[in-house]
Amino acid sequence: MDASTLSAGLISGSSGPLYQRLAEGLRDAVRRGEAGAGSKLPSERDLARLLGVSRTTVIGAYRLLREEGLLESARGSGTRVVASGRWIGPAVPAAALPSGKLPGEPAAGVVDLSGSVVAGPDVVPRLASDITDLHALTTDFGYQPLGLPSLRAQIAARYTRLGLPTTAEEVLVTSGAQQAISLLFTLFGRNGGVIVTENPGYVGALDAAHAAGATLLALPTDAEGIKVGPLRETLARCPVSLLYVMTTCQNPTGAVMSTQRRTEIARLAEHAGVPVVDDTTLADLVFEGRWHPLPTAASGVTIGSLSKLFWPGLRIGWLRAPQALMTRLARLKVVADLGSSHVGQQLASRLLPVSEDMATARREQLTARLDLLTELLRTRLPTWSWARPSGGPFLWVRLPYGEAETFAQLALGYGVQVLPGARTSPDRGFADHLRLSFVHEPATLRVAVDRLGKAWAAFQSGHDAGHLRPFVTA
Ligand SMILES: Cc1ncc(COP(=O)(O)O)c(C=O)c1O
Repeated sequence: MDASTLSAGLISGSSGPLYQRLAEGLRDAVRRGEAGAGSKLPSERDLARLLGVSRTTVIGAYRLLREEGLLESARGSGTRVVASGRWIGPAVPAAALPSGKLPGEPAAGVVDLSGSVVAGPDVVPRLASDITDLHALTTDFGYQPLGLPSLRAQIAARYTRLGLPTTAEEVLVTSGAQQAISLLFTLFGRNGGVIVTENPGYVGALDAAHAAGATLLALPTDAEGIKVGPLRETLARCPVSLLYVMTTCQNPTGAVMSTQRRTEIARLAEHAGVPVVDDTTLADLVFEGRWHPLPTAASGVTIGSLSKLFWPGLRIGWLRAPQALMTRLARLKVVADLGSSHVGQQLASRLLPVSEDMATARREQLTARLDLLTELLRTRLPTWSWARPSGGPFLWVRLPYGEAETFAQLALGYGVQVLPGARTSPDRGFADHLRLSFVHEPATLRVAVDRLGKAWAAFQSGHDAGHLRPFVTA
């Protein structure tokens, strides 16, 4: 295909990273039939020249569309369209669907510091092999949307031990904490319901709010999490439906909210009649002490998960909510999937009793790896800055200058994937920040920082993707 055929309106929309806007423009061209299945696209260099964008932008757009299965590239024969327009579905407003790479295995040779996923510890397969009585398991009624009663009781007992008296009826088992967020945001955010979150915040919650059609208001944070002043003003002037916070190990900053701040937030929300959701998915990873439920938790909602202590592949999370909310949430759970897998829940029942030991082990491992990462960064990238997190798997880093999004594209070319700060912010703020996870083995962290150092040197000296060297695989 001649490059000029594709040029008109190929950069779609006016906000968001350029490579994603170009990817959407290319999807549109495929939808319109301008680039049918089998047609060859211009080379990265030609398209970059034609559109007046950097080659990094075109590389990013082509990579995204290859991951979606829309394009394929082969050495020597260029990049071709694989699917025909009919199969890619209608255009969806950019904000309504999460963009970027799907979670999962990084490309071969790439170290992924963008997420917090690691292989499950040995205890998972050991306890899984204990589930021998599948006959007993499969005789109970298969659809239990609220979750297995025994697991719900165990989760309730755990909350009660943490100082929040809870009954099994107040617990709904979900497919990971992500589903708990989606159910709540669907209930409170539909028809533009206003959901207040922290800025920066958890990417998956922002995506869930957009997908639910909610109006998202992201408020500034400091070293303790969401700031009281802006929250007070917002609650006074806006019909807020829901407040979503992470009081312990905020994602991405790793902040832990003080008792005084918790009390103030709880009082403000209660006074405004707004339910508060405390997402405590990362809370077991707090470095010092134990985490405590928000004072509003009895009337609000708490979200938890086994993903960070054990393994995300379990897909076991939950929400604890007052019974008045439970029936409606359970109905949404039925619509979503009729209930979580019983086999996964049986395994979760066996894992919960060892969660304290697991938390201790994870904390020790994470603090050692955080120490290593910060030491490596201080040596290799002395101009980068950060505040030490109080817990969680992430370091929230500030670059001295430049767009983190562009740097992240460049870094991928050097074999390391990082999350640019703009992804954590609905107004695409924090454009000079990166979220780096430190869950990996020490040797992997060393390789990652070495690659980041090389990528930063290239970024600094104004190299663009045209000068990129191949992946460093050592
Ligand atoms: C704050 C927060 N909430 C929810 C999730 C999703 O967790 P799950 O794997 O339980 O769906 C994550 C995952 O990183 C998270 O960081």
